[in-house]
Amino acid sequence: MDRIHITGGTPLNGVIPISGAKNAALPLMIASLLTGETLELVNVPRLADIASLSRILGNHGVDHMVVGKRPGQTTETGQTVRLTASNVIDTTAPYDLVSTMRASFWVVAPLLARFGEAKVSLPGGCAIGTRPVDLLIMALEKLGAQIEIDGGYVVAKTKNGLRGGEISFPKVTVGGTHVALMGAALAYGTTVIENAAREPEVVDLAECLIKMGARIEGAGTPRIVVEGVSRLHGARHEVLPDRIETGTYAMAVAMTGGDVTLEDTRADLLHSALDVLATTGTEVTSTDKGIRIRRNGAGIAAVDVTTDPFPGFPTDLQAQFMALMTLAKGRSHIRETIFENRFMHVQELARLGAKIRLEGDLAVVEGVERLKGAPVMATDLRASVSLVIAGLAAEGETQINRVYHLDRGFEALEAKLGRCGAEIRRVRT
Ligand code: EPZ
Repeated sequence: MDRIHITGGTPLNGVIPISGAKNAALPLMIASLLTGETLELVNVPRLADIASLSRILGNHGVDHMVVGKRPGQTTETGQTVRLTASNVIDTTAPYDLVSTMRASFWVVAPLLARFGEAKVSLPGGCAIGTRPVDLLIMALEKLGAQIEIDGGYVVAKTKNGLRGGEISFPKVTVGGTHVALMGAALAYGTTVIENAAREPEVVDLAECLIKMGARIEGAGTPRIVVEGVSRLHGARHEVLPDRIETGTYAMAVAMTGGDVTLEDTRADLLHSALDVLATTGTEVTSTDKGIRIRRNGAGIAAVDVTTDPFPGFPTDLQAQFMALMTLAKGRSHIRETIFENRFMHVQELARLGAKIRLEGDLAVVEGVERLKGAPVMATDLRASVSLVIAGLAAEGETQINRVYHLDRGFEALEAKLGRCGAEIRRVRT
């Protein structure tokens, strides 16, 4: 299994291009099941999760074509992918495929909306908590689906197609909102989604569905209204920039010091995280090219953070921010409110010399003078990258094991950091 070796202590300087968002590309690819015409997606990142979903869609019969590179494009320029679901041969998503990636469960909505049936494996356990799908099932039932759980599968059916309904989520759920949107787009009549997730990836999906002929109002607010249509058509859509990748590199620069411009991204996608970063003493400037992050010499101030649904501080940046706080001057409190078990990075950061105490959903971080490199590993994507950030700032060598977690969500990580001066390399074993 590959490892990443980092020799820490070098400030980062230069430019990092930000990729298309994994968490937008996944539901957009799934939306291709809603039409028999071609959906062309531009700026799709090259990631293991994207490849897994392509396999799952291929299993349903979706035709998948990657458009060749044009002159001037590099391996890091996002791909253009054409997906055509004109000949869906199977409405079952089997366990061995769905278990590799939770988001693939969302295929249940377009399959049910277009074909009146879907059999999709329950996604099962997950390293960051129990992550049930009860709210996704509730949303589909509100649209008139009959749902049974049988042998670990969700078996969903409709007699005469889905019908518009009132879906009121007791808790904000990104996946639930994606599923509700895709189901309602082809349902008969009006659907109102209350307490909808406002994440930029939800807005991106809604915008793509609108290009495909859907009638959606209010995406980006807690109340979304969808007028169902009888069919959707093909479209071309560019995946929005990855706000979590943006925030991750911003925190890396804040921790190592230096001056980096994050290109092809937008500050409005992560205001809360950038505001917090500014409070730590990092200079954050929006430019016409992207976002410039600078910290030169000044210490890192300790700041308290609580994760929340958008526009709050994202849970997907909690581990990275904790890495930064390990070198802050003073004590910081980090509360995780979205997932109950998202602190696996704590023990690994401790191996580098961090001082962190856990009290339920609260991590109390006592800033230390310096971290020291060590072998570490992590069990999820964002936890892994928090160790990369800490390794970049630690003295000596850090070895990160289980690199496949990073490959799920960070495109060309070593190349992007390496060009900014980081001493980072992948060792194939
Ligand atoms: C999405 O997961 C993201 N994944 C996650 O990113 C992200 O952490 C999460 O949203 C929160 O922002 C993708 O977009 C592919 P939720 P999702 O439904 O949709 C509970 C990453 O690293 N809940 O918003 O699965 C759930 O347990 C990943 O890229 C229910 O109780 O998250 C959690 O506590 C990790 N019942 C909360 O809601 C349900 O039926 C929010 O989860 C569904 C969710």
